Amino acid sequence: MSASTDKPLLIVFGAGGHGRVAADAALRSGAFRGVVAGDRNPAAWETELLPGVPVLAADALAALPGQLALHVAIGGNAVRKAQAQALGAELPHAALATIIHPHASVADTARIAPGCLITAQCVIGPMAELGIGAIVNHGAVVDHDCRVAAWAHIAPGVRLGGAVRVDDAALVGAGSTVLRNLRIGRDAVLGAGAVLLEDLPDGQTWGGIPAHPLKGARA
Ligand SMILES: CC(C)(COP(=O)(O)OP(=O)(O)OC[C@H]1O[C@@H](n2cnc3c(N)ncnc32)[C@H](O)[C@@H]1OP(=O)(O)O)[C@@H](O)C(=O)NCCC(=O)NCCS
Repeated sequence: MSASTDKPLLIVFGAGGHGRVAADAALRSGAFRGVVAGDRNPAAWETELLPGVPVLAADALAALPGQLALHVAIGGNAVRKAQAQALGAELPHAALATIIHPHASVADTARIAPGCLITAQCVIGPMAELGIGAIVNHGAVVDHDCRVAAWAHIAPGVRLGGAVRVDDAALVGAGSTVLRNLRIGRDAVLGAGAVLLEDLPDGQTWGGIPAHPLKGARA
């Protein structure tokens, strides 16, 4: 059997813009023998996520032949986690797959859990850790010794200084900067463009420069 047929067929679950980013990175990575998409919305079925990447109904995915891998490509952290749990039961033979764009720089000593997405122009520094299902979006820097927990989302253009800790399912908004050694709590949100100078507690939404609690924000 050739090396290419040993590779799994990747299911990118989530036929939206984030799914397109994941599918594009997966195709560019060469790590999969092919890429198809899945979605629960019937309006997406029989469309293409990208040229040559068909969108299938969730119940059609179990019938796909050969070795399968699954990547849940939904930007919202809670929904991504819930869908990964549901699909784990529906597709028990599909291993959760991490996708790394070939134009990302990932240190050899970084530890990357299954189900992560690392997109183009990201830097993951030495000894950094990404938990299951974490996203590091376009052009973000996760510097040395950072710990990004499961289902967290580091949005495009973020700068995390060394040894920053981002807890479960937190969102670090686009273009924000976090000084070294700080902690962003579980389910917290740091707004786009913020500069964080102190720890952000669990579940709170902060923004601005310097970052502070946003009174009118939903989270
Ligand atoms: C912070 C954020 C979550 C708030 O969203 P929200 O809960 O819908 O809140 P609102 O838009 O109603 O804004 C609430 C208040 O916060 C302010 N605000 C919103 N976002 C802000 C930000 N990024 N920086 C500073 N202030 C912000 C609003 O001006 C408003 O102020 P007011 O009460 O004085 O009028 C959102 O604006 C944000 O920045 N999200 C990050 C998005 C992102 O980067 N996604 C990644 C995509 S890949």
